[in-house]
Amino acid sequence: MSSLKPIGIFDSGIGGLSVFSHIRKLLPAENIIYVLDTKYLPYGSKEPEIIKTRSLHITQFLLKHGVKSVVVACNTATAVSISTLREHYEIPIIGMEPGVKPGIENSRNGKVAILATTGTLESTKFKNLIRRYNNHATIIIQPCHGWVELVENQHPDDFDRDSILRAPLIPLLEHNVDTIVLGCTHYPFLRNEIEQLTEGGLQIIDTGEAVARQLKRRMVALDLLNTDQHAGTDQFWSSSRNPKTERIISHLLHKPCKILQLPE
Ligand code: DGL
Repeated sequence: MSSLKPIGIFDSGIGGLSVFSHIRKLLPAENIIYVLDTKYLPYGSKEPEIIKTRSLHITQFLLKHGVKSVVVACNTATAVSISTLREHYEIPIIGMEPGVKPGIENSRNGKVAILATTGTLESTKFKNLIRRYNNHATIIIQPCHGWVELVENQHPDDFDRDSILRAPLIPLLEHNVDTIVLGCTHYPFLRNEIEQLTEGGLQIIDTGEAVARQLKRRMVALDLLNTDQHAGTDQFWSSSRNPKTERIISHLLHKPCKILQLPE
């Protein structure tokens, strides 16, 4: 396997770009193929079988494009399909997991909230994770309905952004948590608003950077790190066309971006 091969990243939408940006910073020479599965967004409310089928389809597509590793930049897809992916494919597959451990370690009062999609929170993988840490802190589990759509800009123009954002935060403030864990890769894009609504009083944990470091460790260990002197290329594919998404990505990356159509 050549170190010049690309790294594949996928998510239901633009959320995984919160991980992509850390990977780009840490591994500037890597060529990256990023897949958005926007036709099936949101993953958080889909049946696990659908997400598994989509994860296999996208990974197969990425392998056809010669990737040396896949990053599942989505907590929901990781929770329900990473073991299936690892059973099917031999390349390194890196996943996401809500940062429960760092959340507890950072908390001063031992009250931590985990914010994620319903799909993640209801998964066996997540329930096992919580079981491991339940004795170490008071853990509040909070789904955040509508947040993914807010980030994807999919609400009608007259939606009430403030109340969608505020609703899941109210119980956390009532429980007096001092730390919140962002267990969905879309949520880091709402970080400033979360900070404003909680008046900056909470610590916010996001595992995007840790995943980028984990990817680097795996690439180094397998002698697959691209050490080229040139900046790597970025390629974007999506399962549905939406010029709005192209504009959002261009804005996020500070450069024009074209999204190609993911084959069925
Ligand atoms: N960004 C994803 C996650 O980390 C999926 C969000 C969704 O499509 O519901 O869970």
